[in-house]
Amino acid sequence: MSGVNEIRSTFLDYFGKNGHEIVSSSPLVPRNDPTLMFTNAGMVQFKNVFTGLESRPYSRATTAQKCVRAGGKHNDLDNVGYTARHHTFFEMLGNFSFGDYFKENAIELAWNLITKEFGIDAKRLLVTVYHTDDEAFGLWKKIAGLTDDRIIRIPTSDNFWAMGDTGPCGPCSEIFYDHGDHIWGGPPGSPDEDGDRFIEIWNLVFMQYEQITKEQRIDLPRPSIDTGMGLERVAALLQGKHDNYDIDLFRALIAASEEATGVKAEGDRRASHRVIADHLRSASFLIADGVLPSNEGRGYVLRRIMRRAMRHAELLGAREPLMYKLLPTLVAQMGRAYPELVRAEPLISETLKLEENRFRKTLERGLNLLSDATNTLHKGDMLDGETAFKLYDTYGFPLDLTQDALRAREIGVDIAGFTDAMERQKAEARSHWQGSGDKATETIWFELKEKLGATEFLGYDTETAEGVVLAIVADGKSVDTAKAGDTVQVIVNQTPFYGESGGQMGDTGVIRGEGFAVEVSDTQKKGAGLFVHIAVVTEGEIKVGEAVALTVDHARRSRLRANHSATHLLHEALREVLGTHVAQKGSLVAPERLRFDVSHPKPISAEELQRVEDMANAIILQTAPVTTRLMSVDDAIAEGAMALFGEKYGDEVRVVSMGRGIEGSKVGKAYSVELCGGTHVGNTGEIGLVRVLSDSPVGAGVRRIEAVTAEGARAYLAEQDDRMKALSGVLKVQPAEVLSRVETLVDERRKLEKELADAKRRLAMGGGGQGDGASDIRDVAGVKFMGKTLNGIDAKDLKGLADEGKATLGSGVVTLIGVSEDGKASAVVAVTEDLVGRFSAVDLVRIASAALGGKGGGGRPDMAQAGGPDGAKADEALEAVAAALGA
Ligand code: ALA
Repeated sequence: MSGVNEIRSTFLDYFGKNGHEIVSSSPLVPRNDPTLMFTNAGMVQFKNVFTGLESRPYSRATTAQKCVRAGGKHNDLDNVGYTARHHTFFEMLGNFSFGDYFKENAIELAWNLITKEFGIDAKRLLVTVYHTDDEAFGLWKKIAGLTDDRIIRIPTSDNFWAMGDTGPCGPCSEIFYDHGDHIWGGPPGSPDEDGDRFIEIWNLVFMQYEQITKEQRIDLPRPSIDTGMGLERVAALLQGKHDNYDIDLFRALIAASEEATGVKAEGDRRASHRVIADHLRSASFLIADGVLPSNEGRGYVLRRIMRRAMRHAELLGAREPLMYKLLPTLVAQMGRAYPELVRAEPLISETLKLEENRFRKTLERGLNLLSDATNTLHKGDMLDGETAFKLYDTYGFPLDLTQDALRAREIGVDIAGFTDAMERQKAEARSHWQGSGDKATETIWFELKEKLGATEFLGYDTETAEGVVLAIVADGKSVDTAKAGDTVQVIVNQTPFYGESGGQMGDTGVIRGEGFAVEVSDTQKKGAGLFVHIAVVTEGEIKVGEAVALTVDHARRSRLRANHSATHLLHEALREVLGTHVAQKGSLVAPERLRFDVSHPKPISAEELQRVEDMANAIILQTAPVTTRLMSVDDAIAEGAMALFGEKYGDEVRVVSMGRGIEGSKVGKAYSVELCGGTHVGNTGEIGLVRVLSDSPVGAGVRRIEAVTAEGARAYLAEQDDRMKALSGVLKVQPAEVLSRVETLVDERRKLEKELADAKRRLAMGGGGQGDGASDIRDVAGVKFMGKTLNGIDAKDLKGLADEGKATLGSGVVTLIGVSEDGKASAVVAVTEDLVGRFSAVDLVRIASAALGGKGGGGRPDMAQAGGPDGAKADEALEAVAAALGA
């Protein structure tokens, strides 16, 4: 057996054969532990199984776990490159028993693996035990046949393993390999133990306790086992090497680095190649697990790692980005065991290139400043803190990079001076945001941000996470606790809750801790980097400092994701159908629907809207992956990403691409590419369906489109379908015939209405039983006068009837009063042509109107119309007109 890949699978298969579940490595960002920066041991993903909080369908497990030890309790960053066995990234092989077997089996399984499967010479092995652990001492003797002098009791914390300041822990027993007396060093516990001769290869932890606080330690529910074997170390041993960097995997990476730089890994160049190889691994795996370089938290540790590697690339003479060129070698070496590396390769490559390009802009000037500032310094001197801060602030040199750069010359850095300079700068920034008016009310958020740092957002990768409550705000003030019924704003160190931005609404969900629960109704971003959970305490009492589990409402977030991704697809489809003048003018991504405002000067036709919808649905049906990359704004725009005008972007932006172009120049390219910080579906298929509901105007040149997707679209269509079924039931035709049936009905109704109106008219004018036409005509002072009150005749029909009345009279004056069902009146007066000189219809209708309690009236001298509220006075109105004729 030789290669790293074979050693890994031999280990896993061995424990698999011995009844262990082979479990995949968990991500480097722990989902279940807010106190840990990175996964730093195999047991991290099982922490809650050890403590009994979580149960799994197996009681034995084995893993090859990705680990990063940079930042936090276990931090190896500073040593990497200069020693044979320090790494920021490494793989830990382990076997675990959750209350199943304990010490005896653990020792037996370990001994058999290394001496039989791996064939390591037992004579070269020795072990340590915690000084009081007589049981382990006896077991090693019995199982391995080790003599007393090769079982060393260690009284220090070296043989008591703890995950962090809190969490599962217990005494441990370590297995050491003696590389031989040609290498300097003594056995563990001896004065020369720091030498390199005796190397620890495996740590067996007898998990018995849980550290609750610094002072309090309790028993685990059942004694358990956690072991950790550094894959790189054991590979070195099995490959006959003494140095981890000489194993096959690192040789391949270093060879790639040698080739790309043209510089051999010899002499003082060796450390640089090692740094590059190591940091390439940690940076790539961190990016694959969702960490991106930034100036806060995990992102800053990643940035420090990347920049440290980049300085070493510079030392090797590289003047162009180097790291991304080595990535294919890493993927070839490790991609089979860790498919996430293959999946994220484009993102890793772009992120490495971007960071290196960015840093290159200032690297050289920074190095010049550093060399000017130190050219008079000697071994043992200190670089002043002010310069170190300037390098940090202006040139992007993390403090440890400056320290690393001076390390070879044995020059230190004045850390206190550095911290002072940083504090001064913060104080100055504070004086700017302590403004007036609106700014002042937001001051609390800036203060909290200053004190607590930015919230780490985990929600691109997960909807659940653990965190620690950092602050509670109630009624605008920071408080330590809040109890059931209180309305609060909660800040946690890290959160999967999306804070409202870019049109996407904030997440809702639940925050739970020991004995309390908080219902989150919204999440907002405040104070340039804080995620504020707006919530009500529903149970118990929440306190600052408590550990909490945060759970986003999954169903709601899924709908938000589908709606947000659909917005991007509609945006692109609108541009294709209407033209590239179409730009987003605002959007709302809510769970139940999406709203999208676009610039377009006229209504969007039904046919255009249909094409837009068809296109977006075609991309959904591609079930194409949605990818996110981190890029500089300029690069993103150069690549054709749609940026929203007026939107403020950071130096680096997320670029979301989805679908494959179908037509024209888009063929072979991503369909939609946009700068976007929102959360999206992983695959366009998850949108299911998009249905545009409406297009309406919202101000000059802006149209608003509303649409539904996924479950919302299904529910909408189901509702439409139900309506259609109900309609076809009422109409007693098949759904397909509903339209023609309704058209026929509408036509018939129109005809019937007309017939009815004619009939009423005929009736009214004496053709039927309502009145006797002739009796309504009389002679008033020699003028023929027709006066009629018509019930239930529309005002609009009165003029037609008045014309008919004129024809009947031949010469005379017609006055018709229509009284509607609610008792209001309308009057029409018509005067035949020959009498227009004597009577004005307008004057006469005003008289009628006055009698009806109205005012005014208008028209022509031969025909005028007016109204009045009091239909009961119709007869009086007729008489008033008649009287006017005789006057
Ligand atoms: N958790 C133990 C370690 O990391 C095995 O060494």
